[in-house]
Amino acid sequence: MINQKLLFARDYEKKAGKKIGDESRPKFHLSPCVGWMNDPNGFSFYQGEYHLFYQSNPYDTVWDTMHWGHAVSRDLLRWNYLPAALAPDEAYDAEGCFSGSALPLADGRQLLMYTGVRREEERGETIQAQCIAVGDGRNYRKYEKNPIIDTSALPEGMSRSDFRDPKIWQEEDGSFHCVAGARRSGQPGLGAILLFGSPDGFSWKFESVLVENDGRFGRMWECPDFFALDGKHILLCSPQDMLPEGLEYHNGNGTLCLVGEYDKAEKKFRWEKHQAVDGGIDFYAPQTMLAPDGRRIMIAWMQNWETCDQNGTDGKKWFGQMTLPRELSVKNGRLYQQPVRELLACRSNKVEYHGIFVSGELVLNGIEGRVLELELTVRAKEAENPYRKFSVCFAQDNTYRTTLSYRPHESVLKIDRTYSGSRRAYVHQRSSLVSAGNGELKLRLILDRFSAEVFIGDGEQVMTAVIMTDLSAKGFSFIADGEAVMDVIKYDLF
Ligand code: FRU
Repeated sequence: MINQKLLFARDYEKKAGKKIGDESRPKFHLSPCVGWMNDPNGFSFYQGEYHLFYQSNPYDTVWDTMHWGHAVSRDLLRWNYLPAALAPDEAYDAEGCFSGSALPLADGRQLLMYTGVRREEERGETIQAQCIAVGDGRNYRKYEKNPIIDTSALPEGMSRSDFRDPKIWQEEDGSFHCVAGARRSGQPGLGAILLFGSPDGFSWKFESVLVENDGRFGRMWECPDFFALDGKHILLCSPQDMLPEGLEYHNGNGTLCLVGEYDKAEKKFRWEKHQAVDGGIDFYAPQTMLAPDGRRIMIAWMQNWETCDQNGTDGKKWFGQMTLPRELSVKNGRLYQQPVRELLACRSNKVEYHGIFVSGELVLNGIEGRVLELELTVRAKEAENPYRKFSVCFAQDNTYRTTLSYRPHESVLKIDRTYSGSRRAYVHQRSSLVSAGNGELKLRLILDRFSAEVFIGDGEQVMTAVIMTDLSAKGFSFIADGEAVMDVIKYDLF
């Protein structure tokens, strides 16, 4: 029952994917088998493997009619490609199989839930509705009653063309639920997160408007996720058309984490605190899964619609990467992130320096590379005489460098990838307010060829950015304006 369009895509992936050398890709961040990748989809655990699907256009390195690419892993770091799972081959999804999620069913099958996009020519409208497909972890059959949540299920006043990205979960009583992004019709068309319920995962009913955008956080809210964590409830979403707010939110497409309480009787989410999910440059459409050991793990598209740079592919036949999967927790009403602990087993070649004095520029023997982890702690030499600025430069040679710099008197950490291979004039810098506990700045930097992820403190903030720097630029330097003391530990990864 596999349709021509899917067979064609699978065949193309197989042939064209093979021609992409492993060295031209990130080592442990998932990139597309071939072509374009955006949002993570269907992040889940099924029959002993982690599954990660992704928005994919195999045929080119630009966004076009969406398929679902597919990969599996046993440790969340070493991914193997599987044949594409979904192609836009039905009338109800002919314009694309948009983002969605996955869940194992009690009968042993795997359920995929996604947005089918279709054109209604009579009204000149693009319609989005929720669909399902069921399979065995390799092949999936679209349900004959699709779409299972059509626009007729929308509460009054919601747009039919912005209704997408269902995230499904199952409660302990066996009932199924999903949240989907929606938008009020008309201007300004603010986002709303809708909650649906189902006894079996197949027949669905609208339950409530779980939470709405009051206009503070952009307009449409895409890619929602909703879960309990450490005694709180969390709503994640990706707002479009954001206005900036201090250093927390930037213009354009952003990510939002709302921390609060779920009123189960009213089916309403009441949030108390808000934060950006990532303070860097390239991070969008995060999705989480509950691992068998109880960890809540998040992955996101390590890109942003505002910072896509097709020129950055430099002839490469792939575009887009996922972030490192991150373990989530909530402390004092704040979302914390840490790289999945599986990464610890991938460390090798430890090089460490303790109590190193820095004033001016310093290069350290053995600290270099592009697939590595660096733990860095920086403090003032004398507490009463703080340094003015401390920088660490990486992916560096005579032409290139990416810089993280910290100004303690402003509590601002900045990532700057101006000199990191881009030939385009979009955003290359971003700053975050960070609190350096006891005057000590603690960073954990993960490099994987074409990206940098910076975990700040105990993971209370993360800054993520893609770099396009030639792989030959591997150097590090440490620069203090004033007098600083640092500890550095480097591990190669893999
Ligand atoms: C977010 C998004 C989703 C949509 C998908 C289409 O990046 O716009 O809302 O389902 O991308 O590829």
